[in-house]
Amino acid sequence: MTDVGIDAIEIWTGKLRLDLPGTLAPAKGEDPEKYTKGLGLFASSLPDTYEDIVTMGANAAHRLMEREDVVPADIGRIDVATESAFDNSKPVSTYIAGCLEQIYDGDFRHANKGERKFACVSGTQAIDDAYNWIRAGRHRGRSALVIATDTALYERGDAGEATQGGGAIAMLIAENPKLMTLSQAQGFGSMDETDFLKPNQQFPSVDGKRSIQVYLARMREAIEDFEGQNGEMHPEDYAHIPFHTPFPGMVRKAAALGYRRLIRDTDVEEALANKIGPQPRPEAFADTEEYREALSEYTEALTSTDRYTTWYEEVIEPTLWISREVGNWYTGSVHVARASALLDGAANGRDLTDARFLVASYGSGAQAEIHEEAVQPGWKREIQKLPIEDHLERRSDIDFEEYELVHDAHNHDVDTGTDLRTFSVPEHEFVFDGWGPMNERQYRFVT
Ligand code: CAA
Repeated sequence: MTDVGIDAIEIWTGKLRLDLPGTLAPAKGEDPEKYTKGLGLFASSLPDTYEDIVTMGANAAHRLMEREDVVPADIGRIDVATESAFDNSKPVSTYIAGCLEQIYDGDFRHANKGERKFACVSGTQAIDDAYNWIRAGRHRGRSALVIATDTALYERGDAGEATQGGGAIAMLIAENPKLMTLSQAQGFGSMDETDFLKPNQQFPSVDGKRSIQVYLARMREAIEDFEGQNGEMHPEDYAHIPFHTPFPGMVRKAAALGYRRLIRDTDVEEALANKIGPQPRPEAFADTEEYREALSEYTEALTSTDRYTTWYEEVIEPTLWISREVGNWYTGSVHVARASALLDGAANGRDLTDARFLVASYGSGAQAEIHEEAVQPGWKREIQKLPIEDHLERRSDIDFEEYELVHDAHNHDVDTGTDLRTFSVPEHEFVFDGWGPMNERQYRFVT
């Protein structure tokens, strides 16, 4: 059977940078270390006032197509994953296709376009859809464009304001991909939850502390489901485990849970037993609460072992460095984590060919999904085409008053007029260009 997976990746970060410990923390009267040490965040990328989910998605897709020498006729499917859509009928993919058609000779007339929604896990679901479409042989030799784009803004004053971000990631899903092949095995953990939702509102209603518990619970179920299908796993099976990363501190918690599961009944559990004892097993406890307490004590002891910290440094840390600088991009976050690991591997001369990644996605509401990917021989040359440092460095820093203006400009309930102040200069990119006669958002390409 032909391999299918991720052929190429491009990232577009919102063009503004808000320093979290230096600017947001003092303005909110908070300790900067809550950001750097607690949440693991240094900066948020925010969209300038002429940017939105369409411009960021179209700009990422445009760069990807230019770089890979792809034209509209090569694309048979465009799926956009977002939880920041502004239109309940017309999918964001049509707006993005419309942008791209302004600058390409061809069009996407015969491409299937759609929009995927399940909070942050929908980017992974869109990749799934593309994979299934190609595997089913309905693609006529064409590739799919999957774009995860979000403006992850919270109500001013909400605790979530600390974890904001905005950006897009475009991925080409194709046969015989240059970066990663996807495996068929998957694990799911899915439940009706009200931890984070946007019922007909722009900014989320969030129960922050509960959202963390729901993330961990669904992730545990997804790992159990995956193991049930594929047999026991071992920590050495995976070069990297990119998790959905709302903030790196969340991954610190998820990785501890994941490692505990990975070492269960392995030589690693046995080797560590001298120091921290064996893992508690539910059958040894009459009371669930006691079992949970024992498990959490074991996990704490586990994370302070050298074996765990070495594993974390090698397997998890390389997935987090972009997130620390850009904040949460919702649907794009887990895909940014995968790109971070590949970029880190290329920069540090690691040989990742044939290495396996365990990709752990999560969306509030709530669903976790786990699957394996294998790194392809052409990965290094391909990922090195992604100029991530340029993207991060060209952002314009904003102070707190400017941040307030930018937040208002993106707030649908605040009328800031049309003559908006901008903080960066658009160049060779799509920009928002006001509203059309049917209240549609319009865009133009700035050369
Ligand atoms: N030095 C070191 N660490 C500090 C510190 C200091 N001075 N001050 C605080 N911390 C630590 C805290 O101990 C805490 O770490 P632990 O959880 O490991 O104990 C961390 O920094 C955050 O501090 P608080 O819990 O006090 O922060 P908060 O009350 O402002 O809330 C939050 C944090 C709940 C994550 C909030 O930002 C939020 O609601 N975010 C949005 C929801 C979210 O991202 N949830 C994640 C799971 S849901 C998901 O993944 C989907 C999604 O993308 C949204």
